[in-house]
Amino acid sequence: MSDRIHPVPADFEAAANYRAADYERDYDESVRDPEAFFARLGQRLLWSRPYTRAKDTSYRLEDFHIRWYADGQLNASVNCLDRHLAERGDQVAIIWEPDDPNAEPRRITYRQLHARVCQLANALTSLGVVKGDRVTIYLPMIPEAAVAMLACARIGAIHSVVFGGFSPDSIANRIADCSSKLVITADEGLRGGKAIPLKANVDEALKKPGTHSVETVLVVRHTGAGVPMQMPRDRWFDAVVDSQPDTHEAVPMDAEDPLFILYTSGSTGKPKGVLHTTGGYLVWAAYTHELVFDLKPGDIYWCTADVGWVTGHSYVVYGPLANGATSLMFEGVPTYPDPGRFWQVCDRHGVTVFYTAPTAIRALMREGEAPVRKHSRRSLRLLGTVGEPINPEAWEWYHRVVGEGRCPIVDTWWQTETGGILISPIPGATPTKPGSATRPLPGVRPALVDAEGRLLEGAAEGNLVLLDSWPGQMRSVFGDHQRFIDTYFKTYPGMYFTGDGCRRDADGYYWITGRVDDVINVSGHRMGTAEVESALVAHPAVAEAAVVGAPHDIKGQGIYAYVTLKAGVEPSEALRKELVAHVRKEIGPIAAPDWLQWAPGLPKTRSGKIMRRILRKIAEAGPEGVDRSSLGDTSTLADPAVVDSLVRERQAR
Ligand code: WTA
Repeated sequence: MSDRIHPVPADFEAAANYRAADYERDYDESVRDPEAFFARLGQRLLWSRPYTRAKDTSYRLEDFHIRWYADGQLNASVNCLDRHLAERGDQVAIIWEPDDPNAEPRRITYRQLHARVCQLANALTSLGVVKGDRVTIYLPMIPEAAVAMLACARIGAIHSVVFGGFSPDSIANRIADCSSKLVITADEGLRGGKAIPLKANVDEALKKPGTHSVETVLVVRHTGAGVPMQMPRDRWFDAVVDSQPDTHEAVPMDAEDPLFILYTSGSTGKPKGVLHTTGGYLVWAAYTHELVFDLKPGDIYWCTADVGWVTGHSYVVYGPLANGATSLMFEGVPTYPDPGRFWQVCDRHGVTVFYTAPTAIRALMREGEAPVRKHSRRSLRLLGTVGEPINPEAWEWYHRVVGEGRCPIVDTWWQTETGGILISPIPGATPTKPGSATRPLPGVRPALVDAEGRLLEGAAEGNLVLLDSWPGQMRSVFGDHQRFIDTYFKTYPGMYFTGDGCRRDADGYYWITGRVDDVINVSGHRMGTAEVESALVAHPAVAEAAVVGAPHDIKGQGIYAYVTLKAGVEPSEALRKELVAHVRKEIGPIAAPDWLQWAPGLPKTRSGKIMRRILRKIAEAGPEGVDRSSLGDTSTLADPAVVDSLVRERQAR
């Protein structure tokens, strides 16, 4: 790993909101007097009823609770919109850049956004949606996605955004899990010139069992494609919303009332509904957005994440809008119509702060420097990454080529569960090391533990835990609070376990090494191995399947599937393709295996447990073949010969 240090550029530091001394002071205070520190953080929001206490949390299993600003009341939509009207009503809140570079961008001011959100809030109310109801949002990256989220927040409905790349089955499971009353979708989405049949996917999803809770489907007309409307269930968004009044009295929410559910993959079972509440989440999203991105008036801030992921929630919508910033939303992909697209958009809109995923950087790096250099990028002053570890080569390329050496890079570590960034450089305060997320933000207490849960001191490598709560922490798994506690607080009692492995160097810098559980990080998207396995075994030809992650040049990790066919079924290239297509259809394109190897048998212990360690080692093998000694002791397997056949099969591939 590279240990090269990039100091904070002097001119950046001179103009920065926050410098090294500010960091030390705030970090110290946050540990010494958390109540004072977090009470002050909460003041950045507008509360309709002030809180009297900020922090009320305990990770002890006998007395487990997480409450922040609990007796305060506020509304997230008011904080993202109404609060800004007097001062910056005519400032652009959202710049929308379409997939097609020749189509017109849209610029929506805070006043316009407020009016549209009020109209939709009124429309939802007229359709019978009330506080606490769930609304599923399945939209492309268009401003209506932000409008939908904020309108739900305004009336206290809990939104559940489902990524537009998920299949009808995945939508149906997510609707069924939280019994959504209403779905907001579009006729189609566009990505890289390809139409995504969103409405058709919703139609198919709603034929599946468990989705009868849905009463209404609002359909945004986006591409104008003809889609069948099923009356009275389906309504055109504009037809319902246009006629509504453009003012609306927001519903006051308790700080601990739910704001949203976001489904994410874990190491076991089906995706869980991560539940975030209103006050703490918004405080943390807003605070970290301003701190980590050194936010200033006039910034044009662009986070490329889709609103279907947590990054889109916290750093496209809630954080930037709570801070009164201008947030750019991009419907397209980095490589369409050519690999200079990101930088063309930066120039077109004068983007100053740019935040993306390492997988996108690696993909663009492969295309060389010319597509970057073709565009000026003069407006850029700060770059960020999120979602997966960034290899130092990609970091240096991003820094040298994209940022021309002048823009600091913030490598931000966090999770759907954490609501916002926890470990990251603060660009005016923290010297960076390529590949390291550096140090915890004020208020964040990371630690490393060994397998037995013993705290490791100083330079060390272990499992990453958090010793105490922060306001943006998830509060529950929707409908299954016990699963929340079991998943995150039982492995190491008294601590929150992140599922990540991590190294800490002698400077106290954190280097995330990746997941230590059965979660794969594919292009920065989380995938549970169990989900892919259950999709595979749902195919009639498959007897058994085991899935592991393996290194992938662009995606970081790719999906490696071992498949045992039913007796009498012959392996073939056609069947291999069919199985990959099957997973794609069952879950979505992001879950399609990158490699699929036939496995006459799987390595199991005598008690029937699959030894994934062995499968990972075989999958990881490079061109030089499988190193048998790396497989460890295979004598405890029920049938050690299985390993030989897997290795043979692997070498033959
Ligand atoms: C990984 C995305 C290294 C990590 C915000 C984590 C990272 C998982 C980084 C969460 C980073 C995220 N460096 N690894 N800067 N950021 N991760 O829930 O394994 O989609 O546990 O949240 O992504 O993914 P999630």
